[in-house]
Amino acid sequence: MILSPLISLQSTLMPSLQVLLSAQQIQARIESLAAEIDRDYAGEPVYLIGILKGAFIFLADLARTMKTPTRIEFIGISSYGGGTSSSGEVRLTRDLDVTVEGKHVVLIEDIVDTGITLAYLLKLMEQRKPATLRVATFLDKPERRVRPVTVNYSGFVIPDKFVVGYGLDFAEDYRNLRDVCILGD
Ligand code: IMP
Repeated sequence: MILSPLISLQSTLMPSLQVLLSAQQIQARIESLAAEIDRDYAGEPVYLIGILKGAFIFLADLARTMKTPTRIEFIGISSYGGGTSSSGEVRLTRDLDVTVEGKHVVLIEDIVDTGITLAYLLKLMEQRKPATLRVATFLDKPERRVRPVTVNYSGFVIPDKFVVGYGLDFAEDYRNLRDVCILGD
């Protein structure tokens, strides 16, 4: 009773969320992606390197669905500040704890947008001389690409909309949504 005026005030100020990909659609796609990666590595151990923070849920679901022996590592990157478009400036905020020389590496990204972040990371990882280096992204927005990058495994190709949920944020909010939603005004 006492809270209802506050709740209605908040709801008028909250941006709208429109479901683009449901939790069920996402889980079905994860199954097929995991099977594809399992086929390609044929039992060879793989380092899954999650790009913080957005990839943490995708990595957790993918790793638990895959049968390939995996080791999990994280790398931290910052390129967005608080807005919805990239500053174009990529900063390494957390490096790997391990050396990946001679190992099979799959970089796990939440979304490839302009490609600037991934281009930076691919260059960085190539210098570490892994046996193989591939990229798995949960989402791909190819319309916005400014740097050509090769994506080996892609969950969903989506239109040029700002999305949140399943790990993706807007100014650190919405990461825990089970669906992927388009953020509106
Ligand atoms: P890029 O360097 O422009 O490819 O941007 C990649 C990073 O920007 C991703 O790892 C996300 O963290 C962030 N990003 C790009 N598009 C979106 C979006 O629609 N929602 C949330 N984050 C996004």
